[in-house]
Amino acid sequence: MRLIVINIAALVCDRCGKLRLQGREMSHIDVIEDAYLLVKDGVVSSFGKMDELSSTGIGADVTVDAHWGMVLPSWCDPHTHIVYAGSREGEFVDKIRGLSYAEIARRGGGILNSADLLHTLTEQELYEQSMHRVHEIMDKGTGCVEIKSGYGLNTADELKMLRVIRRIKESVPMHITATFLGAHAVGRGYTKPQYVDLLVNEMIPEVGREHLAEFIDVFCDEGFFTPDDTARILEAGAKWGMRPKIHADELAASGGVEVAVTHGALSVDHLERITDAEIDMLKNSDTMPTGLPGTSFFLNMPYAPLRKMVDAGCAVAIASDYNPGSTPSGDMKFAVSLACIKMRLLPSEAINAATINAAYAMGCSCDYGSLAPGKRANFFITHPIPSIDFLPYAYTSPVIDRVYLSGKEV
Ligand code: NIG
Ligand code: FE
Repeated sequence: MRLIVINIAALVCDRCGKLRLQGREMSHIDVIEDAYLLVKDGVVSSFGKMDELSSTGIGADVTVDAHWGMVLPSWCDPHTHIVYAGSREGEFVDKIRGLSYAEIARRGGGILNSADLLHTLTEQELYEQSMHRVHEIMDKGTGCVEIKSGYGLNTADELKMLRVIRRIKESVPMHITATFLGAHAVGRGYTKPQYVDLLVNEMIPEVGREHLAEFIDVFCDEGFFTPDDTARILEAGAKWGMRPKIHADELAASGGVEVAVTHGALSVDHLERITDAEIDMLKNSDTMPTGLPGTSFFLNMPYAPLRKMVDAGCAVAIASDYNPGSTPSGDMKFAVSLACIKMRLLPSEAINAATINAAYAMGCSCDYGSLAPGKRANFFITHPIPSIDFLPYAYTSPVIDRVYLSGKEV
């Protein structure tokens, strides 16, 4: 099946083929004006200028007129907790009244609150609630999403979450990766040593045997898991082929970056309190630092210093962190705007952070994250807009007109 998109005012394409962009490379966006895009069997086949089209004589089964909108690769969202039960707007009000995220967690609210709610749902109910959010982000232009467990906090409920993620993978044309985050908080009824033993001796082997997760995550932060706990959990996950993606430096400089880098983590995420020494460590590693601007916005916290990190030569990605406690939003366009407004990334840097580098942070930038021949044809067409910079500038305008995943409109 050949599909051609014609009359594209500006096509954001990839003619360099890099799997991640670092430092200065991040400000470069490759654009073809007055372009077409040809897709064959769900994969990008070629692109070029409209006036080259007749001479090459490209035939297609389906022709899509972009009506002079722009075409960009779909957003990739490499850090979400989109499978969850209910909502936590009560804590939102508590925070307005002055409680901090950490205080709410210490009182037994927060993540444990979501775990209690999730425990009451059947797998089908959890699937249905989660699918609403999956459709919401797909319509907003997200084509790849990483989804974590971590609101089960006992073996049966963690497996329930991961099976729901597997069903979501089978139900939608998005590319989805699953991360086991049993170490999100200590489950009710356990001491921390008991819970870490349970993770290592029971949960990780069960997840591994059922092949339910490709990645493993730990909330390595003050009041949650230490770097030593984290190392033990990651080593248990490695035996089952699960690569680390770590939560670190959200509440305090936690030592999470070092443990992530030394264990070959694909990404280390949050980083609101990252130190200069940790920035150096990341610069010389294969681990993708991932900022979560929506979390800082919603919790009124400092933002991860992505500007400083890019200036130091790092690659950076951004993600939504969609979850019921710290970021009840999966809107990647808004995350891109926040990355510009609050983290001082240029629009081009923020777009690269939310596409190719985000795909790297979920291990799929060979096939996703940019529009290059041979990669999946995941893209969106905008309404006519004056420039690419308009996208983060018009920070609440719904500029996306149509979304295509593997070359099919969704
Ligand atoms: O990434 N910080 C840890 N986990 C989530 C929040 C989870 C929650 O509050 O439910 C995050 O922000
Ligand atoms: Fe998170």
